[in-house]
Amino acid sequence: MSDLDGKAALVTGAGRGIGKATARHLAQQGMRVGVNDVDPALAQATVSEFRAEGLTALAIPGSVTRKADAGAMVAQVQAEFGPLWLLVNNAGVFSDGPTAELSEEAWDKTFSVDAKGVFLCSQAAIRQMIPRQQGRIVNIGSIAGLITRSAQIAYCSAKAAVIHFSRCLAVEMAPHGITVNCLCPGMTWTQMLSVSSAERGTPLDELTALIPAGRMAKEEDHASLVAYFASEAAGHLTGQVVAVDGAQSLYHPLTMQR
Ligand SMILES: NC(=O)c1ccc[n+]([C@@H]2O[C@H](COP(=O)([O-])OP(=O)(O)OC[C@H]3O[C@@H](n4cnc5c(N)ncnc54)[C@H](O)[C@@H]3O)[C@@H](O)[C@H]2O)c1
Repeated sequence: MSDLDGKAALVTGAGRGIGKATARHLAQQGMRVGVNDVDPALAQATVSEFRAEGLTALAIPGSVTRKADAGAMVAQVQAEFGPLWLLVNNAGVFSDGPTAELSEEAWDKTFSVDAKGVFLCSQAAIRQMIPRQQGRIVNIGSIAGLITRSAQIAYCSAKAAVIHFSRCLAVEMAPHGITVNCLCPGMTWTQMLSVSSAERGTPLDELTALIPAGRMAKEEDHASLVAYFASEAAGHLTGQVVAVDGAQSLYHPLTMQR
C-alpha cells in the first residue's frame, strides 16, 4: 500500500491535461483528491470519470486568481477529506506574441493565473499546514521559465517567477516540515500545446525534433514525479526544480547530431 493512501490532496486546473492525469494518478495511489478547475463542468466531468473508476475525488470549482476561492478550495478539501497533505499548483494559461504588441491584459492574465494563483493557493494551504508542521507543495512550472523563448515574454517570465517562488517558499517552510518543489514540464501534448501550436502553424514533427529523447512528455511522466514529491521517501527533498522534458531544455541545434 502507498504511504499516500487516505491522505488529502488538492490539484488546481485538474479538469483536463496534466492536472487531470496527476489527480488520477494520486487517486490511484489511494489519495482523496480535490479536483479544482475554473470551468465547473470540466471539474465535475473529471470527478464523475474518477468515481466510475472507483477513485475518491471531489469537484471544486473556483479560480486560483481569487483569494476567497483559494481559501474555500482548501477548506472544502479539508471538510470532506481531512487535513490537506498535498497541494499541486497546476492551473496555468499560455500567452505569446511579439513583446512590442503584447497587451497589458494578456500580461496581467498570464501573471494572474500562472504566478499570483500559485501564491494565493500556497498561502491558503500553508495556513493549514504550518500548525500541523507537515505538508507538501508541488508547483508546475515550465522549462519556459528556465530557457529563453522569443515572443513568449509573459509566459516565460511568469514561469520563472514560479520557479523562484518555489525556492524561496521552500526555505521559509523547511523549519515547518513542509516541502516545496517545482516540476518543469517540457512539451506535453495537451490542449494548451495543441491550440498554441495550431495557432502558430508549427507541425508536430518540428516540435518533436527539438526534444533529444525523440518524443514529447506524456502527462503521466509528470504525474509520477508529483506522487514521488508527495511521498514519505521525499521528505528531505525540497526547493528543487526538476525538468521533465527528455532533455529538451538542454538542447541546442549546434550540439545535437540526429
Ligand atoms: N502542455 C505543455 O506542453 C506544458 C509545458 C510546460 C508547462 N505546462 C504547464 O502545465 C500546467 C498544465 O498545463 P496543460 O498543458 O495541462 O494545460 P491545459 O490548458 O490543458 O489545462 C489547464 C487547466 O487549467 C484550468 N485553469 C485555467 N485557468 C484557471 C484558473 N484561473 N483557476 C483554476 N483553473 C484554471 C483550465 O480550465 C484547464 O482545465 C500549466 O501550468 C502549464 O503552464 C504545460
